[in-house]
Amino acid sequence: MPKVLISDKLSPAAVEIFRSRGIEVDIKTGLSPADLRAIIGEYDGLAIRSATKVTKELLDVAANLKVVGRAGIGVDNVDVRSATARGVVVMNTPLGNTITTAEHAIAMMFALARQLPEASASTKAGKWEKNRFMGVELTAKVLGLIGCGNIGSIVADRAVGLKMRVLAYDPYLSEKRALELGVEKADLDAILARADFITLHTPLTESTRNILSRETLSRTKKGVRIINCARGGLVDEEALADLIKSGHIAGAALDVFEVEPAKESPLFALENVVCTPHLGASTAEAQENVALQVAEQMSDFLLTGA
Ligand code: MLT
Repeated sequence: MPKVLISDKLSPAAVEIFRSRGIEVDIKTGLSPADLRAIIGEYDGLAIRSATKVTKELLDVAANLKVVGRAGIGVDNVDVRSATARGVVVMNTPLGNTITTAEHAIAMMFALARQLPEASASTKAGKWEKNRFMGVELTAKVLGLIGCGNIGSIVADRAVGLKMRVLAYDPYLSEKRALELGVEKADLDAILARADFITLHTPLTESTRNILSRETLSRTKKGVRIINCARGGLVDEEALADLIKSGHIAGAALDVFEVEPAKESPLFALENVVCTPHLGASTAEAQENVALQVAEQMSDFLLTGA
């Protein structure tokens, strides 16, 4: 009977699937890297979210490991090259949390446009500062999408429903798909020059790292607002803070940071910056979806090799 270790907090639905398929499951979350190394040799499968780091050192002692399943999209916490070299399959669940993440980006855009976190904190503090919080409408504003794949295309759909004009920069986006989505295919320069809001929906790769660098950020339209619910490292955080302080950029909403957990940042002191702790996939529905999907996929693989 194959044996799977769940080493991050997953919905109990995953455990039920594994057991119903005849797979033995242990749940041990919050292990130190040394504790995980000490037991990984017993397991055929490892089910994770983002906390467990699947490093070369871990894979070196994972003698029976055949599959790592990531309940979520990004596999940046897995050394995929080392896993592949050892014949360990790495799988993710690319669709389970797309709606939830897209909704978080839209929520962040509203929060930014109407300064909701600051207004809420001020009201709860008994200040009633009605004149302090003057927002902007989203209707008829230009939203620039950097990345229009599984998540970006849902953001586009919602933004079109909000009567925004959507520009999408994505080398993989066909004219036909852009037409279906009701977006205008654009290059990065057009987005920088024209967008009132820019939202990122691309993985972090060598070609996307710092795609909003000091240089590209300084070419944005004055008064732009930036939203990042994709990955830290896509935006130069220091440059972003400088350009908000100078008044060129009106604000930013960030769910992801270059270093996570993000305990300090030049952005935290700024009023027109909204921050959340990588909550993009954090809804009951999305966590249920990704847990079910990862358990099904891993079970199929371990039981049939497919
Ligand atoms: C993902 O890659 O699925 C999201 O960033 C969510 C997460 O890591 O928890």
